[in-house]
Amino acid sequence: MKKIKSFFWGVSLFALPVFAQQKPAYLDVDKPIEVRVEDALRRMTLEEKVAMTHAQSKFSSPGVPRLGIPENWMTDGPHGIRAEVLWDEWYGANWTNDSCIAFPALTCLAATWDTEMSALYGKSIGEEARYRNKNVLLGPGVNIYRTPLNGRNFEYMGEDPYLASRMVVPYIREVQKNGVAACVKHFALNNQEIYRGHINVQVDDRALHEIYLPAFKAAVHEGQAWAIMGSYNKYKGEHCCHNQYLLNDLLKRDWGFDGVVVSDWGGVHDTKEAIFNGLDMEFGSWTNGLNWGQSNAYDNYYLAHPYLNLIKKGEVTEKELNDKVRRILRLVFRTNMAKERHFGSFGTEEHALAGRTIAQQGIVLLQNKKNVLPVDASKVKRVLVVGENAVKRMTVGGGSSSLKAKYEVSPLEGIKARLGDGAEVIYSPGYASPAVKEQDVLGAEEPDKMEIDADALRNDAVKWAKDADVVFFVGGLNKNDGQDCEGNDRSSLSLPYEQDQLIAELAKANPNTVVVIISGNAVAMPWVKQVPAIVEAWYSGTEAGNALASILFGDVNPSGKLPFTFPARLEDNGAHALGEHPGDSINVKYNESIFVGYRWADKQKKTKPLFAFGHGLSYTTFAYGKATATKKSLTADETITFTVPVKNTGSREGSEVVQLYIGDKKSALPRPIKELKGFSKVKLAPGEEKMVSFTIDKTDLSYYDDTQNRWVAEPGVFEAFVGASSDDIRSTVSFELK
Ligand code: BGC
Repeated sequence: MKKIKSFFWGVSLFALPVFAQQKPAYLDVDKPIEVRVEDALRRMTLEEKVAMTHAQSKFSSPGVPRLGIPENWMTDGPHGIRAEVLWDEWYGANWTNDSCIAFPALTCLAATWDTEMSALYGKSIGEEARYRNKNVLLGPGVNIYRTPLNGRNFEYMGEDPYLASRMVVPYIREVQKNGVAACVKHFALNNQEIYRGHINVQVDDRALHEIYLPAFKAAVHEGQAWAIMGSYNKYKGEHCCHNQYLLNDLLKRDWGFDGVVVSDWGGVHDTKEAIFNGLDMEFGSWTNGLNWGQSNAYDNYYLAHPYLNLIKKGEVTEKELNDKVRRILRLVFRTNMAKERHFGSFGTEEHALAGRTIAQQGIVLLQNKKNVLPVDASKVKRVLVVGENAVKRMTVGGGSSSLKAKYEVSPLEGIKARLGDGAEVIYSPGYASPAVKEQDVLGAEEPDKMEIDADALRNDAVKWAKDADVVFFVGGLNKNDGQDCEGNDRSSLSLPYEQDQLIAELAKANPNTVVVIISGNAVAMPWVKQVPAIVEAWYSGTEAGNALASILFGDVNPSGKLPFTFPARLEDNGAHALGEHPGDSINVKYNESIFVGYRWADKQKKTKPLFAFGHGLSYTTFAYGKATATKKSLTADETITFTVPVKNTGSREGSEVVQLYIGDKKSALPRPIKELKGFSKVKLAPGEEKMVSFTIDKTDLSYYDDTQNRWVAEPGVFEAFVGASSDDIRSTVSFELK
């Protein structure tokens, strides 16, 4: 004992002060990050630096083992933590402990119009990522909903730049509190999947700045995102993963982004452009796509040996490399080597509950004639559920956002669980989609091609409908190729698999037919007048069926509002009426300019949307009083506040999303009739009234003047519109900018 003690004394007295003196600055978590970055950079060899700028496996990039700097591990995103894949394969690695909680799709999150839900989402998914030892979450996505045909709209936050901006910020902040970087995607103009790898987007500067960029800018400035993902498409003839204007001039110079630009997987096409045009990390290359080429070819990546060789030959200097590595080191010190990092948690009941709450807040009641909903569970004896989407797994498929969920409650299971033994629940498929191979399952076989007899399926459902107390039709789109799925766009606005005819016949057979649409996109509804109730239920993840049942049976009062317009016909959408989709395969012209979504719909004299942006009903009713303003006019450095009383005039508690739109009466350049500039979700007890206020300033009155390349607020008269949706304005106040 004595011996041991004296040994320790010997070591500590002699060695400790020396060790303390020698502790490298980059390992000192109390030192400012920039000090750590410079110290680490100084110690790295050229080869170590180049290695950091490209992938070493499908989802990881090397650290610097010699210096104890760990690897970076990325994960999709954005709706849950993707299952582990093999080192150099897209197949699942068949782990048994990587089944996540699937959260609702981002369209559903946007439909909550509730920044607290966004924070809850970010916190929960961030904890899941952290537990799985990922330091970069590939999400959220904020590409604007330009056309309802975009196969990837379900991964984004709708058509409005203001709504998407407000919703993306809390998500990012909460994810990053876990020491996990949010990698916001896909920067920029990735508004279609067809030709996504090469299509050159031609968009005017106003639309670029007013519509397509604000959510990314908010993600950088307010969310302080640590990473951003370049998109596959081109802009100004250059691929967006190495795009001088977007990445160097705008993101890094004008916006001051100090994080990492990650390529989309396979989005890099040229070494010199990748070096000089703002890319920091290359993933998924070799060579022309995602799933072919030689395996373990990481050394051949554009930013691997080709880059190293250019430096060794003296053709390029280390200047750009040092900037890239500084950014990557910053990422590492913000995440894997941060001072404080929680352990995270995975697949928990708490996360499942968070997902359910978000879904309950996001589900939208589109129509409810004769108050068919909510269904009184104690009064129904025989319930018919029709439709493939009542049983189809929706957490699987759709591309890179596909998940291996711990469990998924289907709508049928949710309805059955809610009714218990109180009622008989009959299920009839009514229609079927062709079966597809499941993604992310190693060795999955293409299922046998099943013969689908559409008439027999439909007739069976309609027969049962006649005797049911209520019919829940659960259909819509799904995650198959050509529906809500990455890599392709839809070919029409119509529902697939002959659902229109089925719905019309069900409605004829039973007046209590409730249509539940599961989708991430608007769909045409030729039967809209024939059915009393319509619900948009989105892809809502692990707890989907429970969330839906709670709305259908009135345990939860719906309060979601549409984050995008449902046009009655495709040609009522600006991109299709005036613009182009999908372009000529080389270029796509956004001729509709800033008139996206309701900005287009508002201008139309002859057509009305099927369901407008911001629309969503409740089981209670809300009365809006007269909106007032704090002043009649404001100067450029003042603010103005609008206040409106909102009262719950029904008999049950409910939440209303009160919306503020601003319109410029007269402007030098054309402007939309109105634009969203504020929203607030208020919970009201029966009979309760609250004052809802919005404060705006000149930034909310500005437009991007492309003749001067800057934001301009023109003096003159403006109108503040307060309403329950973009086509349900309840009160208007005029004011003047001096
Ligand atoms: C998608 C990205 C995704 C990446 C990695 C790409 O195909 O566009 O959104 O994060 O794959 O799976």
